[in-house]
Parts: sequence; structure tokens; C-alpha cells
Amino acid sequence: MNLIVRSGKPIKGTLNADSLYAIPGDKSLSHRAALFAALATGESRIGNFLDSGVTHALLQALRQLGVTWELKEKVLFVQGKGMDAFRPSEQVINCGNSATTMRLLAGALSASGIPAILDGSAGLRKRPMDRIVKPLQAMGVPISASEKLCAPLFLLARDKNQKLQTGTYVLEQASAQVKTCLLLAGLGADGEVVIHEPAASRDHSERMLRSMGVDVRQIDPLTIALTPPSGQLKPLQMDLPGDFSAAAFLIVAALITPGSDLRICDVGLNPGRTGLLDVLLRMGAQIEIHQKADQVGEPIGDLHVRYSYLHGSNVSGDLVVRMIDEFPVFAIAAAHSAGLSRVCGAQELRYKESDRISTLLQQLSLLGVQTQESSDGFSIFGGKDFQGGNIHSQGDHRLAMSMAVAGLTSRSPIQIQQAEIINESFPNFSYLFNSLGADMEWQA
Ligand code: S3P
Repeated sequence: MNLIVRSGKPIKGTLNADSLYAIPGDKSLSHRAALFAALATGESRIGNFLDSGVTHALLQALRQLGVTWELKEKVLFVQGKGMDAFRPSEQVINCGNSATTMRLLAGALSASGIPAILDGSAGLRKRPMDRIVKPLQAMGVPISASEKLCAPLFLLARDKNQKLQTGTYVLEQASAQVKTCLLLAGLGADGEVVIHEPAASRDHSERMLRSMGVDVRQIDPLTIALTPPSGQLKPLQMDLPGDFSAAAFLIVAALITPGSDLRICDVGLNPGRTGLLDVLLRMGAQIEIHQKADQVGEPIGDLHVRYSYLHGSNVSGDLVVRMIDEFPVFAIAAAHSAGLSRVCGAQELRYKESDRISTLLQQLSLLGVQTQESSDGFSIFGGKDFQGGNIHSQGDHRLAMSMAVAGLTSRSPIQIQQAEIINESFPNFSYLFNSLGADMEWQA
């Protein structure tokens, strides 16, 4: 399916619980809540659950492993059966396009000792898995990957009474997926598991595990320690905030489309996720942030965004991790801004759903944007209007949505091929945008 985006009207309105379309529930929290709830004892109720391709990959995998759940109008009910929740599956566990599913599930299965083969789409088979396989092996998990150190992953059965090794695990990348994988494996360890990251990645897992009664201590800003619980994990009762990474497309759309005025309510504002806000404010964005009371340990708030004159800005260091999923849409804001924007220290972008440095720059050049690639980032020479054209999604939902945002101000329409990949994380994307004034149309 192609998504055709035509420029025109401003982006105006309010997105809240009463609006026709709402911002989807947080993807990272949805994955964690569904999986952690399976390991709790008793029924969990998770409201505003993200109902999309990548979360269905996890839900189906959980069902294959014997977990009972029901999803009714964005509320997920999970019958948690404790650390013995999983039953071995005769079939390969299909993680679809979801690296989060594969990496987090590998951690939870490692703690349980259940044998499994985890596999996924052709795209997922290209994502690096050595980053979890090596530390899991060091913990004593009988796990291996394909020759290319990618999926499929093979987990052999382990005697449940044989606990995993305690110790300090130093991560090579700042990755919340790897950190969470090891935290989950740590639930099956003999004692304290210490994890050290090169930079602080999103801490949703730490917050959620604490709310379930697990002792996760912050030793210093880059180091955490988990002590495996002697008792059971408490089930979750929570409503998930809107996904900041989904809101990012709306924020940039409103900033670059003349006359826009948009309010987005109840968005997750975990500081580990909101680096894009800091950069956009530095670029001159008119964004008001109204922080509300935390919900089950997660910061939440409303945003008011208006069309703004933007100037370019550089991104490096810790900010990179705090906006790791937002570079494609940041690039659209940067291309629209006056002057140069430079990103460095962002080599992790090469290991996402696509190589998000080279693919992004190829797509931007089709829109007439001047760019320069480096091994760990890119530069964008901003200030020119986007030209229209045909762009392929390259199987990357965030690139497809970013190109659609560019289409809101392009001189002629932008057509995104195989844009249905957007459903992996933001199924009502085009309907929500159209309800705010955009002109997006699907064509077979
Ligand atoms: C995620 C962490 C990030 C992010 C991904 C979701 C998570 O990946 O890119 O979309 O839910 O933990 P890394 O942790 O590999 O950087």
C-alpha cells in the first residue's frame, strides 16, 4: 500500500481521551507490561495498551508459550503464573519484526530455563543479537545465535534449580533492550546482578519492576543492581501513557506546518525518552510542557506545540540515547530549519529497523535535502523546501512516518511505498493526522 501525502492545511486540534483518535499507548511500556505481567502472580490490567504489529508479535509469542491474555478495546488482561509462567513450545517462536520482543523474551526465557527457538522476519534476522547472546552466555545461559550472530536464537533447557551467575555485566552499547534482557535473566540468578551501561538508556524496566516489588537499585547514573526476589512479583494495575515517540511525529508536523496549533495530552515524559524536546526547544520551537502527577512511576504531561521558526542544532553525547528513535523525524525538523544541524556519536542508528543513517539520507536526498554522512552520524544543510516524489519505506516504520511528515510542507505530493509498515507501531497514524487537518490518502 502507498500513502500519499499532500501539503495544505495547518495541524490543529487537541488530542486527549475524548478526541476521535488518541495518541497510541507507549510501545516500550506495552512490551514490558505484557511480558512482566506474565511473570507476576495474579491478574494484571494494563489500560491504553498499544494494539499494533510489534506488540502483537509479543502477545502471540506469549500465547505460544502458554500465557493466557485477553485484549479488549486497548485494555490488556494477563493471567500471570509467576516465574514458572512458560510452557515449552513445539513451534519456533515468531517475534515478527520486533527486536524488543526477541531481546526481552530471550531474557525472561533464560531466567525460566525453558528451551525455545526465537526467530522473526527477514528484517529482524538482520538485527544484531550478539549483544544479548554474549552476556547471557556469561551468566550461564545455554544460548546461541546463527553464524551471523543474528536470529534465530537457540535456547536449550536448563535445570530450574541451577541458578544463573551473579556478577557485573558491562554493556558495550547503551541499550534499554539489552539492559532489560539482562534484568529479566537476573530474576533467575543466584544473587545480585549488576549492569553497567556506557550511557543511561530509558529506565522503564527498572521503574516497572520496582512497582512489582523487585529490588532494583541505582548504584550510580550508569549502574544498576537487581536482587532476585524471594517472593512473587505483584501484578500490574496501570494505564499506559501516550507514546512520546509517536507524539514526536505530531510535534514536528505542527512545528513545520504554517499556522499549526496542537495540544497533545497525557504523553509519557520519561527523561530517558524526551531528548528530542530538549533539542527542539534549543532550535527555537514553541512548545509548552505541562507536567502532571506521575502514573505508576512514569512521568506524564500535556504538550502545546505551535508553528515555529527553527534554526539548526547539533546533537551528540547523552542526548543521542535520549532520542534514539527520533532521529528520522528530527532530520525533517533540521531540514526545515535555517542553517546546519550535525549529529555525531549515533552509530547505533545503523542497527535499527534499517540503517537509519544511510537510508534516511538517501530518502532526504530524494526530497532535495543536502546532507553529508559520517560513520557515526550525519549533517543536514537546512532551509530549503522539500520537493515531492516517490519514496520506499525500506521496511522502517519510523522512516515512513517521517517522510509523511515531510509531505505536509512539500512543494508537490510525497508518495510512500509499502507504508503499511507504519502499523507496526502507530496503526491510526494517517487517520489521526487527517483528523487534525492533514491530507493523507492510502492507495493500493
Ligand atoms: C526500546 C529501546 C530502544 C529503541 C526501541 C525500543 C525498548 O532500542 O530503539 O524502539 O523498548 O527498550 P535499544 O535499546 O536497542 O537502543
